[in-house]
Amino acid sequence: MKITSARKIDHIKLSIEKSVESNVDTGFKDVRFVHMSLPEIDLSDVDIHTYFLKHRLLAPLVIESITGGTPQAMKINSNLAKAAEDLGIAIGVGSQRAALENRNLIDTYSIVRDKAPSVPILANLGAPQLLDENAVDYAREAIKMLNANALIIHLNALQEAVQPEGQTNFKEVLKKLSEISKKIDIPLIAKETGAGISIEIAKYLKSAGVKIIDVGGLGGTSWAAVEYYRASKAKKGNKAKLGKTFWDWGIPTVASLVEVSSIRGMISIASGGVRTGLDVAKAIALGANLVGMALPLLKPATQDSIKVKRVLDNIIQELKTTMFLTGAKDIKSLRNMPVVISGPTKEWLIQRGFNIKYLIKKRS
Ligand SMILES: Cc1cc2nc3c(=O)[nH]c(=O)nc-3n(C[C@H](O)[C@H](O)[C@H](O)COP(=O)(O)O)c2cc1C
Repeated sequence: MKITSARKIDHIKLSIEKSVESNVDTGFKDVRFVHMSLPEIDLSDVDIHTYFLKHRLLAPLVIESITGGTPQAMKINSNLAKAAEDLGIAIGVGSQRAALENRNLIDTYSIVRDKAPSVPILANLGAPQLLDENAVDYAREAIKMLNANALIIHLNALQEAVQPEGQTNFKEVLKKLSEISKKIDIPLIAKETGAGISIEIAKYLKSAGVKIIDVGGLGGTSWAAVEYYRASKAKKGNKAKLGKTFWDWGIPTVASLVEVSSIRGMISIASGGVRTGLDVAKAIALGANLVGMALPLLKPATQDSIKVKRVLDNIIQELKTTMFLTGAKDIKSLRNMPVVISGPTKEWLIQRGFNIKYLIKKRS
């Protein structure tokens, strides 16, 4: 078995069995809506549809990139894709590097298009793969494998730095992103994997042709944590210590979302520690176009699609309830809902020079 597939098996197992979340809060706790005692709408009329990649989604949600490349991954992807299709939401796959190394593994990814024919699917490659001389061909192949609607390039410098076999050359990734964005005919998404993206980086990404940013912020799955467990198991003490030290490294999700969403014209996806429909609503009020989750869906996806749907149905119910309690009848009005920001998130945004008053919007 190729090393990439063996690593994927470890990632799934550890993410399910161990406690791999960050100790630092996403920032959602610092954000509050102003309760509306007179919503003047009927909860059953709350409409959560939205548009993404020229598709009408039934909810502003995306199943984040998780896996592919192993028999278990095929089952997980199949269950996630069935749930995405039934609920009319977008879905990503894990890094497709494994299938580019071994074409026999293509099915473990393409099952997603088979089971989810009508929703947007996001292909996925890592920044280190961009440095390969065949990067443009890889990107085209990854897209073709899924008939994908957008290509994610994940920026996972933290993970590569703490991973025992990590690829730590990130030189000229921006230049490569720029080249690839010109050579593919679907949008390019830049995505972090748990350490968040700042406004400065988002501006560079925009200049390289990136149309959509998935903030992948701190507060949910920590890749330093996952790699800590792998390194400990492999008795690689130095890497294990690195993983422990950088367990909570990064920009919390809410801070990163506000930073990235402040860029005009940027489409943003909020992810990293999103755990309730209330978090989803807060992310949308703070500027997110879509909201994504990975870890809460992983274990249910090892079982069946009904279990995945159950988790997402709960999220949808909570989102609609939040909208009812703020008087937001649709996603557009939710975007205009005032929020109050306090605690470490307020401090972060003020120190970073953001005028948080604009977030405390008035209802029109
Ligand atoms: C088991 C597992 C595997 C993942 N693999 C990938 C990947 O291959 N590519 C990627 O861009 N993100 C990957 N992620 C990161 C997620 O897409 C997401 O950004 C991150 O886990 C934060 O969301 P969460 O807190 O809801 O898990 C993976 C996450 C998990 C839990």
